[in-house]
Amino acid sequence: MKDAENILLTGGAGFIGSHTAIDLIQNGFNVFIYDDFSNSNKDVLDSIKRITGIAPKLIEGDIRDYEKLSHFFSKTKIHSVIHFAGLKAVGDSVIKPLEYYDNNIVGTISLLNAMRENGVNKIIFSSSATVYGDPEYLPIDENHKTSSTNPYGRTKLFIEEILQDIVNSETFFSAICLRYFNPIGAHNSGFIGESPKDRPNNIMPIINKVCFGLQKKLYIFGKDYDTHDGTGVRDYIHVVDIARGHRYALALLEKNPGWEAINLGTGKGFSVLDLINYYEKASGRKIPYEYIGRRQGDVASCFAKVDKAKQLLKWEADFNINEMCLSSHKAYFNCLIK
Ligand code: NAD
Ligand code: WQD
Repeated sequence: MKDAENILLTGGAGFIGSHTAIDLIQNGFNVFIYDDFSNSNKDVLDSIKRITGIAPKLIEGDIRDYEKLSHFFSKTKIHSVIHFAGLKAVGDSVIKPLEYYDNNIVGTISLLNAMRENGVNKIIFSSSATVYGDPEYLPIDENHKTSSTNPYGRTKLFIEEILQDIVNSETFFSAICLRYFNPIGAHNSGFIGESPKDRPNNIMPIINKVCFGLQKKLYIFGKDYDTHDGTGVRDYIHVVDIARGHRYALALLEKNPGWEAINLGTGKGFSVLDLINYYEKASGRKIPYEYIGRRQGDVASCFAKVDKAKQLLKWEADFNINEMCLSSHKAYFNCLIK
């Protein structure tokens, strides 16, 4: 792949997209961000510039706006698209399924149509460990059967299959679905992090809030799981490692046309109590918590087999859980004092 290739990041202003933008800019790519800021803020672009010295080009818009996307592709030669844009809260998706199907699936079809219309034929898609449903065995490899228990997860599954159908029908179309496990952490500068506009559902933004007194305590969902301490076990992975994974996936798209699904995780599982312990050590602060009942749809344990990423992408996670907690804490602190 040549230097200074143009890459479009839908949803590039969000948590994972903004970290990926930094990684790509620092490795010589021209980054274009297409985002409607429904779950992000424009000031992330200033932070990206502060870190890299280069501001990504911004197109403000909704991926469901086919005309806007198509116009953009017709004016700018895009090498590959990394498709982050979408709604991501499992609980919300149960309450507002139509909104999720519309944004995630209709939005993706609009994007794919605009790509095809303009000869853009490479895509990396943000998929999720959620496509594995309740794991039948651990660690989970990419051949594990897929299923879903909620509308959000179904959007990920449908989109993976839509991409597979297109790859099968069009000789020159290639897609990689990266199945992220539990991304946490932040860029070590502390200038960007995870700052959703919506009320956070994922554990790390909640721990950050508790740490700084914005929420009294963390409610731990269940203490009777079949795990080493009874709390849920997950494969937490540093967002900077995830970001780098996209760059490696761009290289794979180039030399290996077709469709692939690849896990991005560390291969290690940590419980909620483990995470609290690491966070307390990293931050030097106590995280008060209280046990409540299990959250509907939660699984006991979920962690990845990461051999495929090692073999195909030549990628593996660098950062440990300590670094994830420390960077997350630092970025949240900076965000509060801004
Ligand atoms: P995020 O909400 O921080 O980022 C998503 C971005 O997409 C936001 O900037 C939002 O404004 C934008 N967006 C949403 N709908 C849009 C639309 N219709 N048009 C244009 N922009 C739109 O989320 P994230 O954590 O960075 O996740 C990125 C992707 O990775 C999502 O597709 C998510 O489902 C997937 N994913 C996330 C996790 C996680 O735990 N964070 C895990 C697995 C998969
Ligand atoms: C982690 C652990 C909870 C909050 C979700 C999506 C998945 C993917 C990642 C997008 C679990 C426990 C949490 C709290 C708690 N996202 N917890 N109290 O559920 O593994 O995965 O985000 O694709 O699709 O389902 O992540 O961060 O919500 O929870 O005890 O207030 O923390 O029970 O064990 P999860 P999470």
